Amino acid sequence: MSKPLGKILSEGKTKKVRETENSDVALLEFKDSITVLDGEKMDVLRGKAVINAHISAYFLEILEKKGVPTHYIEFVEPNMMKVKNLEMLPVEIVCRNIAAGHLVKNYPIKEGTLLNPPVVEFYLKDDARHDPMLNEDHFLILGLASRGEVKKIKEITLKTNRILSDALKAKGLTLVDFKIEVGRGTDGKIYVGDEINGDSMRIWEVGTDKILDKDVYRKGGTMEQVLNTYIQLYQKLLGKMPPIRGTKNE
Ligand SMILES: Nc1ncnc2c1ncn2[C@@H]1O[C@H](COP(=O)(O)OP(=O)(O)OP(=O)(O)O)[C@@H](O)[C@H]1O
Ligand SMILES: [Mg+2]
Repeated sequence: MSKPLGKILSEGKTKKVRETENSDVALLEFKDSITVLDGEKMDVLRGKAVINAHISAYFLEILEKKGVPTHYIEFVEPNMMKVKNLEMLPVEIVCRNIAAGHLVKNYPIKEGTLLNPPVVEFYLKDDARHDPMLNEDHFLILGLASRGEVKKIKEITLKTNRILSDALKAKGLTLVDFKIEVGRGTDGKIYVGDEINGDSMRIWEVGTDKILDKDVYRKGGTMEQVLNTYIQLYQKLLGKMPPIRGTKNE
């Protein structure tokens, strides 16, 4: 019999944060839910938790190896990661290599335009206010982070972008854009936290521009199409079928 899981410290729409015996360490448990529009649209996609937990661990391990400070400690079967328990900043950091999504909706720029240098954007995590965009001054007046920390966050984001872009390119995939969240460790340093997977990235197949991420759901794809997309991304990255029911690996 496996040990019961620790109590829930916080729960969002797609993950639970659980306590462990060590207060510096948390367990991030992925859920099968999929949401867009600040949670206005939500569905359950059986198997997504396992897929997204594995893909997140895959990318966080790559980042760690290349010297990006992340919260990742180890994978815990079947759908969890042991991580540093961070004081999360209520901020989403977006980095864009190709114009898509909000950038195209809100600015006069065509989808597919190459962005060089990459565009880094900050948003306040506040569903009721629909996540307003932040600049460096906003970080200070809202007491979110110091100027030095904002500079560090941008540096970490751009390094993460280079590493993830290269890793995906090696698999025949293009990193269009991605979102990360960061937090402070007990040492006061900034770490990449949260998740990195098809929910938080736009990934297009080189040559076909086939979408391999949550955009399939955003654009109204069926649950079968959405699940197949997550399975395909897992296969392309890890070179095998994900360990979920209903697949050949059952
Ligand atoms: N290393 C960590 N230590 C502590 N909390 C973390 C860590 N990594 C991620 N979190 C937090 O886990 C929470 C749960 O994640 P989840 O993504 O489900 O929720 P959410 O971000 O509130 O909502 P959304 O569904 O819009 O993403 C988030 O508040 C996230 O900031
Ligand atoms: Mg989240």
